[in-house]
Amino acid sequence: MPEEKVSTPKKDLLFFVCSQCGYQSRKWLGKCPDCGEWDSLIEEKRTPQVRSPQPVAQALSLTDYSQADNIRLITGITELDRVLGGGIVPGSMILVGGDPGIGKSTLILQLLAAIASKEKKVLYVTGEESAQQIRMRADRLGIKEGSIYLATENCAESIIAVTSELSPALLAVDSIQTMYSEEVGSAPGSITQVRESTAKLLALAKGIGLPVIVIGHVTKDGAIAGPRVLEHMVDTVLYFEGDRGQVYRILRTVKNRFGSTNEIGVFEMKENGLSEVDNPSALFLAERPVNVPGSVVLPSVEGTRPILVEVQALVSPTSLGTARRTAIGADPQRLALLTAVLEKKIGATLYDHDIFLNIAGGIRIDEPALDLGIIVALLSSLYEKKVDQSTVVCGEVGLAGEIRAVGQMEMRLRESDRLGFNRFLMPASNTKLLDHSDNSSVQIIGVKTVQDVVEHLFQP
Ligand SMILES: Nc1ncnc2c1ncn2[C@@H]1O[C@H](COP(=O)(O)OP(=O)(O)OP(=O)(O)O)[C@@H](O)[C@H]1O
Ligand SMILES: [Mg+2]
Repeated sequence: MPEEKVSTPKKDLLFFVCSQCGYQSRKWLGKCPDCGEWDSLIEEKRTPQVRSPQPVAQALSLTDYSQADNIRLITGITELDRVLGGGIVPGSMILVGGDPGIGKSTLILQLLAAIASKEKKVLYVTGEESAQQIRMRADRLGIKEGSIYLATENCAESIIAVTSELSPALLAVDSIQTMYSEEVGSAPGSITQVRESTAKLLALAKGIGLPVIVIGHVTKDGAIAGPRVLEHMVDTVLYFEGDRGQVYRILRTVKNRFGSTNEIGVFEMKENGLSEVDNPSALFLAERPVNVPGSVVLPSVEGTRPILVEVQALVSPTSLGTARRTAIGADPQRLALLTAVLEKKIGATLYDHDIFLNIAGGIRIDEPALDLGIIVALLSSLYEKKVDQSTVVCGEVGLAGEIRAVGQMEMRLRESDRLGFNRFLMPASNTKLLDHSDNSSVQIIGVKTVQDVVEHLFQP
């Protein structure tokens, strides 16, 4: 019986690991008892290790630890520094995930070059590409810094050895799925290996205060491949996203122990690499069709920065039995909810219409302020009435059809004014809170209900 073999430590252990949460079981289970995921247990082999005795833990007063190390490493790439919460914290581990070919290696190489340009040694370890391929990319990006060191390596222990010898200011590992630890018997890329290699690199980072950046692959459903625990282990998780058909790329913070998680960085992919976009509003509005029904501009706030985006809707009678509801860049549930509000509160007939909603430029908006943008775009398309092109709208919509206040209105107002919008439809409660010392020339219209919105925008 296989159970008897457990007591023989030299033999390989066969066990099953949950690909979602890392839960381990000696037998296969259809459903992970820990995270509840179905069909997530994968078979793995491990040679048991004889563990050396653990050193006794030491405790010191918090004030005894030196403070001097808390200086962030500034990359000088503003979009990146902002996303990181103001630079890279020493000893932190940053995981960068993203779809294949989105530009992760390019981003990391540019980041390393930025640090290297400050006369600092940096180490780039690649387990995916050859040194020549990296050199080719560096040439294309115009990177010439001699202090970027390159190693093609897959073994976590060797990476640690080479790092100790070189003592770089920053270590980048591309990608964590290609790494393995000698101490674990399973194959590279397996969940145990990914987790163990990360643990090894994490110990290195924390031990000597070295910042480590690891690139992670993303699965089809958008999660970083490997156990979910990977995201818990690291300090910061960044996702590099964007439509590959488009030139913009967005770096989004998913988790950050040392900064806000609302920040985004906007880049443009060019032949000579990623360039920062310091005026994303202009970029996202560049191809906006003017005087067309179904389109409205929303001043959104991502972290500490306002971005103007175009909300587009197409509402047309359905030719099928069930009307279609599609949302790109917005939450489909939110669209369904707002559709119901419009039907109930202003009697809009939408049940027999297909609805397509899109946030132009491939950006995703999650904040509630988008609600008013969605409602206005839907009504504009339904009524075939265009919204005046110099109007912006933003506000949360409640189930009773009330328009509720949203935050950072001054910031939204300033950005709208800067880009030449002169009419701002906002929640009435927000207008009272506005700082009127701001001498912007924007006409402010406060709305309380969905009916008010219809009155102001669609009734002659
Ligand atoms: N000559 C070029 N001109 C413009 N863009 C280019 C050029 N060469 C590569 N690119 C861009 O770089 C992207 C690939 O970048 P990169 O290899 O950094 O991606 P990655 O996320 O690391 O991919 P992988 O997941 O395969 O490692 C391409 O999708 C393309 O957009
Ligand atoms: Mg790559």
